[in-house]
This record gives sequence, C-alpha cells and structure tokens, in this order.
Amino acid sequence: MTTIGSPLFPNATRVMLLGSGELGKEVIIALQRLGVETIAVDRYENSPGQQVAHHARTITMSDPAQLKALIEAERPDIVVPEIEAIATQALVELEAAGVARVIPTARAARLTMDREGIRRLASETLGLPTSPYAFCDSLQAMQDAIDAGIGYPCVVKPVMSSSGKGQSKVDGPGQVREAWDYAMAGGRVSHGRVIVEGFIDFDYEITLLTVRARGADGEIQTHFCDPIGHLQSAGDYIESWQPHPMSSVALQEARRIAKAVTDDLGGQGVFGVELFVKHDKVWFSEVSPRPHDTGLVTMASQWQSEFELHARAILGLPVSTALRSPGASAVIYGGVDAQGIAYDSVAEALSVPQTDLRLFGKPESYVHRRMGVAVAYGDTVADARQRAKAAAACVKPRRA
Ligand SMILES: Nc1ncnc2c1ncn2[C@@H]1O[C@H](COP(=O)(O)OP(=O)(O)OP(=O)(O)O)[C@@H](O)[C@H]1O
Ligand SMILES: [Mg+2]
Repeated sequence: MTTIGSPLFPNATRVMLLGSGELGKEVIIALQRLGVETIAVDRYENSPGQQVAHHARTITMSDPAQLKALIEAERPDIVVPEIEAIATQALVELEAAGVARVIPTARAARLTMDREGIRRLASETLGLPTSPYAFCDSLQAMQDAIDAGIGYPCVVKPVMSSSGKGQSKVDGPGQVREAWDYAMAGGRVSHGRVIVEGFIDFDYEITLLTVRARGADGEIQTHFCDPIGHLQSAGDYIESWQPHPMSSVALQEARRIAKAVTDDLGGQGVFGVELFVKHDKVWFSEVSPRPHDTGLVTMASQWQSEFELHARAILGLPVSTALRSPGASAVIYGGVDAQGIAYDSVAEALSVPQTDLRLFGKPESYVHRRMGVAVAYGDTVADARQRAKAAAACVKPRRA
C-alpha cells in the first residue's frame, strides 16, 4: 500500500530534487500532480525546477558539508539526484544512516557520477560489450594505451564531464596532444584523468529508457520503453525520436544489457541506457540513473512520459511504458549570451499541427545552452521529426 500525504502538512510526502534543470522541472510537475511536496535544489537561483516547486534551495551540491546539512535540515522522504556533479559520498552516508532514501540508490549515483565506476562495472564486473578503453592520468599513458591496442580513431573524454564537454575524436597520432589538452580544459573538476575509447563505427545509437517499478505483488519489475533514436552534435543531443526501428536480435540484446546494468544498480526509477548498434551487435556506452535528455520526446510519444514514469516508480506506483504515437523532439538553443531573453514567434511554432513546446525559463541564455524543446507526434517518425524541427525553428530567442 502506498500512502501520500498532503503537501505543506506534517504528513506530506516530501521529495527533494538535487538539480532542478529542465528534466528536474518535469519530474517536479509530475510529483506535484500526485500531491507530493517538492524541494528543488540547484546551484543557482530561479532554476527551472525551483520555479515550480514548493520550496527552492540554492547550495553547492558538490560540497558534502552543504549537501548533508541541507538534507538533515529538510528531512525529505526521498532524495532524487538529477545531475551527476553532486557529493555522492555524502548520499551514501545519509542513506546508510537511514536519513533518506536516494533514487535509485546512493551507490548508483556514486558509480555513475564519473565514467570510471560505471564503465568498469559494465565491462569488468558484468562482462557486457563496450568499446575497448583505458583510463589514463597523463599524456604519455594515453599515448601508450592507444599504441598498445586501442588504436585510431579513438575518443578521449575527461572522466568527469557530461554533454560532450572536453571530448574529442582522435584520427591519428598528430591529434593526441590536442585531445589531452582539450580534455584537461573541459573536465568538471581538474581531475587530470581521462578515458580513451576505441571509436565504434555504429549504424545508430539509442537510449533505452528502462524503468524499475513495483508491481501489484510488491516485487520490482523491469519495464522497457520503445527505443529512442537521437542525433548528437558537439556532444549534445539536438534531435530525438521514438520508436527507433531495430532488428529483433538487436532489440533483445539491448534489453539484455539494460536489464543487467539496471539490476545491478538496483532501486526504483527510470534509467537512460545509452547503446551503440551496428547490425545485430550492441555496445553499452553509459547509463543515467534518472530521466535522460533524449527522452524529452516521451512527452509527445508515450502515455506516461519518462518524468511521470520516474515519479510513479520512485513513489512505488504502477507504471505503463506503452507508446501512444510515433514522436520526436528538437532542441531550441539560446543563440545569444544574455540574461532574461525573449522568445519571438511562439504562436508560429505552435501553429505547426501536432506539436507542443517547452520553454524552460532559464534566467540566463548562452549561445549553446538548451533553452527549450519542441515535441511532436505524427503517423510516422519521419513526419513527427519534420514537425518538431519546423516548430523548433520558428522560435527566435533574442536579447530583451
Ligand atoms: N567510443 C565511441 N565511439 C563512437 N562514438 C562515440 C564514442 N563515445 C562517444 N561517442 C559519441 O559521442 C556522444 C557523447 O558521448 P558520451 O555519451 O560518452 O558523452 P557525454 O559527455 O556523457 O554526453 P551526454 O552527457 O550528452 O550523454 C555519444 O552519444 C556518441 O554519439
Ligand atoms: Mg552520453
């Protein structure tokens, strides 16, 4: 039996989001609809999620002392990490002390906060197929690893980074130093450690949203959404669509890999399992133990979006991953470096039939910052993609 209290009363069901960007905002809205009291935490004021939560708190989430103090003061029932860059060791300690339940688990948040924990788990512990890789602490060690078998082309990434920051492809020996320097400048914290991976010449890549939720019998069940295809540019997703067609052999293998990883990480919630596919062969790339940016498309394509699925799963409620219609999403970038920007031609965007829009309300725009997304549904993925792109292209962000 799951009981939900009344927000702002002593019996409230209180959920704290660590990271309150556009994905956290949608999770908060889904929780609010179920009568949950929400606390949105971010590193800056007026983040998208803070604008819709009951309570807004601004702290440095990578500082264990600040994070611990906030969770101990607020005493949420559930803590939901929405970003990687948080003091996950503090979460491990708070979970062990029974202070709060961490989604999906504190261990999953810790293992996925850098590339090393999750890659070693997937490849070395679980034996899942990945690109060949090495972790290196110096330019020389990286060159040695490439020469010893990783070869060219390869991809160099800081151990701690996301959205493609500090990441580059190396086609030959002349580019190795440049890739090292770029990784050193682009990492989240100056860590001095990189992963170098063999380049996988995949046909396509997918996100397989995988949901661990309680069934009627109280046991955890694993549910899979239809595969999401996406296009990446400069390490960031610019378009996604669902369903992405796959051979039945590849789909089975994708589900096997996703199940193995999510079984090990455990807990309840949505996972975004990133996979590369070539013919019937599938490689594990990485996993987010939370909704995935490419999954924004599910707001148009599924009966329950990945945000609603996450809210339900963490509360112990039943879920359905059924597809409603083929759908697509297209990203809207800021295009300018400015605060308090304006968005022109919103009506034109929404006059594209079968589309919807999310403007995230971020207080500050950068040229390459994701400020909104257009989603669309259609009879086919091609139709939905065309509509989403058309709607996104209408929106014109500008200085106010
Ligand atoms: N070994 C590889 N072979 C081929 N392409 C790769 C490889 N590694 C990464 N890529 C490409 O770069 C993209 C970003 O890589 P990855 O997901 O590891 O970085 P990220 O910084 O975590 O990105 P995000 O946070 O957006 O998921 C992948 O989606 C894929 O398109
Ligand atoms: Mg990725």
